[in-house]
Amino acid sequence: MSLKIAVAGKGGVGKTTLSAALSHALVRMGEQVLAIDADPNNCLGRALGVPEGLLSEVTPLSEMTDLLAERAGTPAGGGFFALNPEISDLLGRFKVDHNGLSLLVMGTVDEPGAGCVCPESAVLKALVRHLVSLEDYSLVMDMEAGLEHLGRGTAAHVGALLIVVEPAPASARAATRIAKLAKGLGLRVPGVVLNKARGPEAKEQVLPYLDGLDIIATLPAEPALATSEAVPTTGPYAEAVEELRAKLEGRLGE
Ligand SMILES: Nc1ncnc2c1ncn2[C@@H]1O[C@H](COP(=O)(O)OP(=O)(O)OP(=O)(O)O)[C@@H](O)[C@H]1O
Ligand SMILES: [Mg+2]
Repeated sequence: MSLKIAVAGKGGVGKTTLSAALSHALVRMGEQVLAIDADPNNCLGRALGVPEGLLSEVTPLSEMTDLLAERAGTPAGGGFFALNPEISDLLGRFKVDHNGLSLLVMGTVDEPGAGCVCPESAVLKALVRHLVSLEDYSLVMDMEAGLEHLGRGTAAHVGALLIVVEPAPASARAATRIAKLAKGLGLRVPGVVLNKARGPEAKEQVLPYLDGLDIIATLPAEPALATSEAVPTTGPYAEAVEELRAKLEGRLGE
């Protein structure tokens, strides 16, 4: 069963690490996986273990302003833009294939102000809609920290949002704000993932602040993650992510 999910949460909680590990878990299940890096910091490739040589050739799609403007059909200076820009070739042209999965470094387009839809962002949204419609693909989208990106609406097309927290009240409070916004946008929130847990007390450190959100999985703090850029594919963290994958398929497949 293909899974389509975006991963959000406060800064540094482990979104990129989880996006990479979940992508690996899906590949192990035989899924065709598309990992989308929607964070302007572009860290997902390294977490996935994509070789530096391949990554160094990648320009985030959001920085290809000429291409985006051309697809949006906008002359410089504004005017109307295409509602259905041609985007179906972009995945094939810009994805990087490595170890059984595809990475698309998308980045984000800053919108100048509330209520203003810039054509480049419209193209990226159209692209995400297209990618989500590809039934053969499982899709994992690593989001940037914070809430602003939810307003841009790229995640909204993915349909489901997984929220990561760490054992600290601030990350749990951020999770409740993200969940509220996400639900308002029509996204399904299957639950939060408690990451970096050092023991059973980790839950108590976040539960009072989660406003009833369900902890769908607890991932252990793993020292190996601090020393390597690429996420491990074996060990307690990878095993916990495998359990999470199975649960997500159960919840989102209903
Ligand atoms: N389960 C874990 N155990 C130990 N360290 C972890 C764990 N998960 C993530 N980390 C570490 O925490 C740091 C932040 O992780 P990561 O980059 O995945 O977070 P992020 O939420 O994507 O951050 P950002 O908001 O900057 O994008 C990294 O050094 C990572 O190795
Ligand atoms: Mg990240």
